[in-house]
This record gives sequence, structure tokens and C-alpha cells, in this order.
Amino acid sequence: MGEAASPTLELDDIQSGALRPRPSPFAATYIAFRIDDRKAGRELMKKVSNVVSSAADPTSPLSDTWVSVALTFKGLEALGVPQESLASFPWEFRQGMKARALELGDDGDSSPENWEAPFATNDVHVVLVAVSPTQEQLEKALDRARETYKGMTGIEAIWRQDCHALPDDKEPFGFKDGISHPAIEGSGIPGTNPKEKPLRAGEFIIGYTDEMNGVQKMEPEILGRNGTFVVFRKLHQRVAEFRKYLKANSKDTDAEELMAAKMMGRWRSGAPLALCPFHDDPAIGEDPKRNNDFMFKADDASGMKTPGGSHIRRTNPRDAAIAGVARIHRMIRRGTAYGPLLPEGQLEDDGADRGLMFAFVGAYIGRQFEFVQSQWINDGMFFGANQDKDPVMGSMGEDESFSIPGRPLRKRLQGLPRFVVTRGGEYCFMPSLSALKWLSELES
Ligand code: HEM
Repeated sequence: MGEAASPTLELDDIQSGALRPRPSPFAATYIAFRIDDRKAGRELMKKVSNVVSSAADPTSPLSDTWVSVALTFKGLEALGVPQESLASFPWEFRQGMKARALELGDDGDSSPENWEAPFATNDVHVVLVAVSPTQEQLEKALDRARETYKGMTGIEAIWRQDCHALPDDKEPFGFKDGISHPAIEGSGIPGTNPKEKPLRAGEFIIGYTDEMNGVQKMEPEILGRNGTFVVFRKLHQRVAEFRKYLKANSKDTDAEELMAAKMMGRWRSGAPLALCPFHDDPAIGEDPKRNNDFMFKADDASGMKTPGGSHIRRTNPRDAAIAGVARIHRMIRRGTAYGPLLPEGQLEDDGADRGLMFAFVGAYIGRQFEFVQSQWINDGMFFGANQDKDPVMGSMGEDESFSIPGRPLRKRLQGLPRFVVTRGGEYCFMPSLSALKWLSELES
């Protein structure tokens, strides 16, 4: 028997925020709500379902602002979702991010007792994300949205985080971000690596066949189908620390840039070491046809170009020899910067909060997000490097190191501090448009 034909995703029922790339440039806002009254919560579901656009629709009901909505497990409980439905959700999601802190490496400065309120409480029930091409358009849309929930009792907006795309799509450490995305069968949305075979739709959208030939279902089916999971993490970046570490361990600025590239697997321009092992090539970095067109196995098995421990190789080893199969641990990422930029060249911390609102989208929080975070970012065993962590964003303890393969000798960086600190986050479920309606019509 041949392979089954790939399914056509029901794009008109899937939230646009799950699959569609954002406008460029853009401003975004995250708003968290607490539901104190289940009827008011259901009313909120109804109101947002009128402003959420589908992945089939290039325009938004709010014209220039795209809204997505997701719920935590506590949020589903607060809406009065029946027990048998709640029990049909995956275990990690039911536990929530705070309870998974140990697995995720959220210890020390990153541990939940140091998280910003209201994370680490049970109060975050609904997370609404609004994205616009400009801050001005976003503010106008938020003013209109506020009108819809302002007069409602039983619903409280308890947290807001404004984010924005930095110039050239850089993240706060200065690397171009948002380059590598998986291709998804039946979505019509192209991936960015022409050498990667598209992934089965069930890896990203519930109710379709996945890479392990399974189909995930919730009870009732309408609640899960065409939905997905979203993991939000507010990640503070110690930019001054990162710059100081590079400077203190390099003989000149060229060596600093090479070290930064070896840690990330790409130069700051986005040009991958796989294609530009010795010098940056900004023209490749900004060219979407070339900047992700590579694998590792054929010409870089030993990591002489892209170290096995670099951020991009460990979070997506592509075809490199590792313990396990990379395809069942892929993810869609929607990171957005927050906070002011640290001025170019400044090496002293100014105390400002800056970093990334990291967002994962995928159908399996356990084997996609948690696996990558715990096994690939915070442990090096899978590619034969003992406990070496991700040099950029690992949960560093005492005396962490990172190996850069080289001839005649490899280089070993020592004493890597923690450059990224978790400030909080949530595991959320992003329902389909018909599931939002189902939630709004719950009774009793
Ligand atoms: C503040 C924290 C982080 C920073 C600064 C950061 C930065 C970056 C950058 C600059 C890239 C390369 C550009 C691209 O391919 O889009 C990248 C790729 C990637 N990151 Fe992160 N990242 C962070 C956190 C995370 C986390 C928490 C995860 C997963 C748990 C993750 C998973 C990935 C993946 C899967 C890729 C794509 C790899 C590939 O396909 O080549 N990152 N990151």
C-alpha cells in the first residue's frame, strides 16, 4: 500500500495565530484574564470568537489586528468544562508549567517562587494575543477590544505584556530570529528548509495523523479537533552579561563574533555556520531562499562548522546522528522581543527588563516543547556531550562548559553563566473556532 494522501487542513476552523506568520514589522500585546464567573467566561469566549481570524482568511475581522486566544487548564476548569473532557487532555497540560519547573530547568533565579505575578498562581485562565503592523494600529484595536470586556463583571484583565519586533527581526542578544520553520503537510504554508520533508499535520494540529501514525483526540472530538497547544514563556535576557562573557573570552572583536556564532550556530546576521563557516555573509543571512537550506550529516558530522552543542543544532539536529528521531520533536516558534534594547556596545547592565516572549506552537507539549527544553537544551547526552547545556539559554548552574570542535584542538569554554532567566509562563490550549463556540455554549 502507498502512503495515504496528505489531508487538507480545515484552515477555516483553525486560529490564524496557530499557523500564519505575523506581519512584518509588528507590535504585539499579551493580555491575561482571570475568570471569576463561568458565565462571564463563556460570554468572553463568544465575544473573542467574533474577532479571532481563521488561518484561511488573509484579513482579520479587526482589519489590521490579528487576535488569538488560548486557555490554561485552570481556564477550562473555570469555564465549567465537564470532568470527562478535562480528563481527555494530556497530562503535562493538566499539570501546568509551574508544576513542571524541575523538568524544565526552572531553578535558582528561574524558579517559580521568583516568577513575576500572576504567573505561579492559579489565576491565569485566558491569554489573548493581539498583533498589528504598528503600535498605533494595535492601540486602536485594543481600545475597541477593551470596550467589549470593560463592562463585564466576573472577568478580570490581570496582566499585560507589550512586545515588538526589533529592527531586522533581531532578538535582544543581537541575532536574527524567526528564520527556521517546519513545513506542515496540507497547510499550504511553505517551510523554510527545502531539504526537510514536510511534517505530518497531526504534529501541529489536533485531529490529524502525526509522525507516529497516531491521531490525538479530546472528548468530545469537537473540543480538540483543529486546536493546538501553545507554550508561553517570558524569558529575561542578560544582554550585558552575554556581551561581557564574549569579550572576556576572546582576543579581538572578530574572535568575539566567531564565538557568538559558534554558540548560536548562526552569525548575528542569520547566516548559518553550515554555509558560512569562517566569515559572516549578511547577504545569505537575509535571503530566505538560502538562510535555512542545509542539513548537517553529509558534510559536518563532527560539528567542525556548526558545533553539536550550539543552540540551533541542539534544538533541531536535522539529519545529524543523535540518540532519537528529530522529526518528533519539532515546533513552530513565535518569539517576540520585549523591553528596551541595551545600547550598542554597552557592557554594564542598566537594570531594564528585556528579553523574549517565547511562544511554542505544537500538538504535543510533552514530546515537543518539554523534550527539547529538558533533553536537548539542558542536557548534552543525546549527541555525546555529557551534561553540556545550551550555551545561550541553558539553565546554568556552577561551572558549565561548552565545546567548540576545531583543528588541531577543540576549544572548551568554561564558567558559562546563565544568560536567560525564566520570569514566568503558562501551558495553554488554543481551541478551534468551532471549539470556542462550543465553550461559549456550555451550560450549568
Ligand atoms: C531567550 C531565549 C532564546 C533565544 C535568544 C533564542 C534565539 C534563537 C535564534 C537567534 C535562533 C536562530 C534563528 C531561527 O532559526 O529562527 C533560534 C532558533 C531556534 N530556537 Fe531559540 N532562542 C531562545 C529560546 C528557545 C527555546 C526556549 C526553545 C525551545 C524550547 C528554542 C528553540 C529553537 C528552535 C527549535 C530553533 C530553530 C532551530 C532550527 O530549526 O535551525 N529557542 N533561537
